[in-house]
Amino acid sequence: MQNNTFSTLFVGQNLIKLSAVDSTNNYLKKLASNSEPLPEGTVIMADHQYAGRGMQGNVWMAEAGKSLTFSLLLRPTFISAEQQFELNMLVSVAINNVLSKYLSDDLSIKWPNDVYVGNRKIGGVLIENVITGSHLKQSIIGIGLNVNQGEFEAELAGRPVSLAQILQQDVNLFVLLSELCSQIEQLYLKMKFGKSTNLRELYVSRLYRLHKIATYSKNGELFEGVIEGISHTGLLKIKPLDGETQEFGFKEVAFI
Ligand code: BTN
Repeated sequence: MQNNTFSTLFVGQNLIKLSAVDSTNNYLKKLASNSEPLPEGTVIMADHQYAGRGMQGNVWMAEAGKSLTFSLLLRPTFISAEQQFELNMLVSVAINNVLSKYLSDDLSIKWPNDVYVGNRKIGGVLIENVITGSHLKQSIIGIGLNVNQGEFEAELAGRPVSLAQILQQDVNLFVLLSELCSQIEQLYLKMKFGKSTNLRELYVSRLYRLHKIATYSKNGELFEGVIEGISHTGLLKIKPLDGETQEFGFKEVAFI
């Protein structure tokens, strides 16, 4: 185990820093499947990720050395497969809590777990779970946050923005990583030991476009509606202006 200075019990205590890798999620997945047991809380971070992966087979691009691209190993065996969205909520709320120390208003979670400032994407999360029987066995949580990057390619989805672009000053990547590890650990341990964190309420209250009229697309058809919250399993609840509330899975609705 490599030592570092994080004030956590286990998240980030085994921190492996790579100068370049295809994807930290891929790297961690391979490492976790080796015969030698890997401690829970292991974090892989990379200066340069040259084939970073996003949700729905998208690519995640980040300028080398400028942003946070890292993956965390958890073994949340206490979470049932049906409840796996709890982990999405936990990670989204943790990131939101940490970023709220740097940014004031306008920070939100675009369902299911994009990190937004205003109408622009500042970060994304790719969670890859392994399920055995009815429960989670392993979870690889990949987080990409735009921190000190000054420019983005114009055609990138989500109109990316970085912390430094908003703050007009650079942010220490290691400090930010340590804060994220600490916040994720706190929420995770509370969840594990059954302490209430109002996670669902916090998550829903921070949803991008909550209770606002906006345009969505379903099967290529546009409609106007209002996000009302999420279902028990994490489906997005939207009430079309002219109809009853509907629940959507990730690929079933697009934000326009
Ligand atoms: C998304 O918004 O589509 C999710 C982006 C997740 C990117 C992170 S960067 C670290 C980790 N490794 C990857 O290949 N992807 C995630």
